[in-house]
Amino acid sequence: MSYQKKILILGGAGFIGSHVVRRFIKKYPNFQIFNLDKLTYAGNLENLKDIEKAENYTFLKVDICDRKTIEQLFKKHRFDTVIHLVAESHVDRSITNPFAFVETNIMGTLNLLHAAQNVWKDSNSEKLFYHISTDEVYGTLEKTGLFTEETPYDPNSPYSASKASSDHFVRAFGETYGLPYIISNCSNNYGPNQFPEKLIPLFINNIINHKPLPVYGDGNYTRDWLYVIDHAIAIDVIFQKGKLGETYNIGGFNEWKNIDLVKILCQQMDDKLNRTAGESEKLITFVKDRPGHDLRYAIDASKIYKELGWKPSVTFEEGLSKTIDWYLQNHAWLKNVTSGDYQKYYEKQYL
Ligand code: NAD
Ligand code: TYD
Repeated sequence: MSYQKKILILGGAGFIGSHVVRRFIKKYPNFQIFNLDKLTYAGNLENLKDIEKAENYTFLKVDICDRKTIEQLFKKHRFDTVIHLVAESHVDRSITNPFAFVETNIMGTLNLLHAAQNVWKDSNSEKLFYHISTDEVYGTLEKTGLFTEETPYDPNSPYSASKASSDHFVRAFGETYGLPYIISNCSNNYGPNQFPEKLIPLFINNIINHKPLPVYGDGNYTRDWLYVIDHAIAIDVIFQKGKLGETYNIGGFNEWKNIDLVKILCQQMDDKLNRTAGESEKLITFVKDRPGHDLRYAIDASKIYKELGWKPSVTFEEGLSKTIDWYLQNHAWLKNVTSGDYQKYYEKQYL
């Protein structure tokens, strides 16, 4: 079959990427979808079991730091669109090992930009390098204010510094070589298939297992939460309607202090697990703070609302309930990802 477009999704075995791959496979049968992923601890092909046999799907196990292989792949397939979700993505791991973040997030992104630029420079057809980034590049907010697309970059963690750097490289390739690009910066995601090192799935897993819930510092840190499927929809909308050279902030105006979020999570879990009200809250344990902990993230998403007509489809309570149900129904997935190296990570981070 000859396809209208070749789309390369990078990091499609990860949390957000798997939802993007699934959406594109189902929505665009006339596009050939390539999913490139190294399958690190965070990448899991189980996330895509339901679509792995689709006609228009090809998986490529490749490390984006392998420059030669990346260049060969771009020469061979001459992709029309690149949607780049590969990253080392966990702040705590970036504090322990910043080098992996520089290698994958900066050097790996540079390899992709270089390869895309090389094969696209003589092409007449429409191309797009769509880079997925985070609100953490803007640094931290005090109690008021929102991050807009004009907020200057001011990253504080090795993770956010590496993401900021990759964003700068994407923009620089646009300015210097005319690479057609779009960047989006999204707030914290939650939902099915998130690796249980991030706050919500970690706490769900610990509640299931009656383990302490390690709240960093006083718990008064604020994050702005978006259901992962709403992020995947926003990525699709930007892919279809976004303007080249633009940045879009993605968020749902949904700020929560960590401690308030954890309490709601505990209440919903007690309910779903038929436990006595208040049982899970007793697991809350205040632990040593994260170094350089950003106080507050909050996104002004009015540009994407107004210009592209996107807004979230679920409320936080609905999204959280769906998320808990998914983890309770996918016990084997959770057990599988928390065996082996996860135990070593957990001991080093928390015990
Ligand atoms: P994730 O850690 O779940 O997935 C990352 C994927 O990248 C994994 O499948 C992993 O195997 C793959 N990968 C890592 N290093 C690789 C390499 N060198 N070569 C090829 N593949 C490699 O991350 P996520 O939470 O799905 O985040 C996806 C993107 O969205 C990232 O760029 C992240 O910065 C951004 N983002 C995440 C959030 C969030 O809350 N999770 C919010 C905003 C933006
Ligand atoms: P996280 O899910 O790691 O996302 P990010 O750091 O990228 O925002 O953390 C979300 C918030 O929860 C953040 O303020 C740190 C806090 N947190 C805890 O209090 N305890 C934990 O064990 C983890 C993983 C996070």
